[in-house]
Amino acid sequence: MKRPILLHPDPRLKKVCAPVADLSDDLRLLARDMLETMYDAPGIGLAAPQIGVLDRVIVLDCAKSDKDTPRPLVMVNPQIVAASDHASTYEEGCLSIPDQFADVTRPAEVSVRWLDTDGREQQEDFGGLWATCVQHEIDHLDGKLFIDYLKPLRRQMITRRMQKLKREMARG
Ligand code: NI
Repeated sequence: MKRPILLHPDPRLKKVCAPVADLSDDLRLLARDMLETMYDAPGIGLAAPQIGVLDRVIVLDCAKSDKDTPRPLVMVNPQIVAASDHASTYEEGCLSIPDQFADVTRPAEVSVRWLDTDGREQQEDFGGLWATCVQHEIDHLDGKLFIDYLKPLRRQMITRRMQKLKREMARG
């Protein structure tokens, strides 16, 4: 089932999320809903707080082109265990901040450890767009948005645009 995506500014997007203690059927359902919501948006990543669930769960699939085989990943309690010294810059966006994009510089490669929905520990090295995306999504679990990397003026400008958009949406 598709879930509504919260839009910035929203206090729930600023919260530090709690680790998942119990790998339940509810969690598997949440993961399925998150993937459906992400693909429908369409987006390449989604974090649980973006649908108002303050648990440490993210989903991503950066196999963007139609020729690539889809690779849906669900990460429970993801942790970056190593990051490269060299950085890369990507123009980032966010489903909670629609139509706003900005360059963000992050480590170019990261090693991530997480639990899959069966409770098995997984670890993998990511580079390129996957590395940027997984770091962006893990940031969400700590209440951090990509605009927090920008200069205050730019961040305020985007936030004001979003406030205006939300007022217009509320008016219908
Ligand atoms: Ni995002």
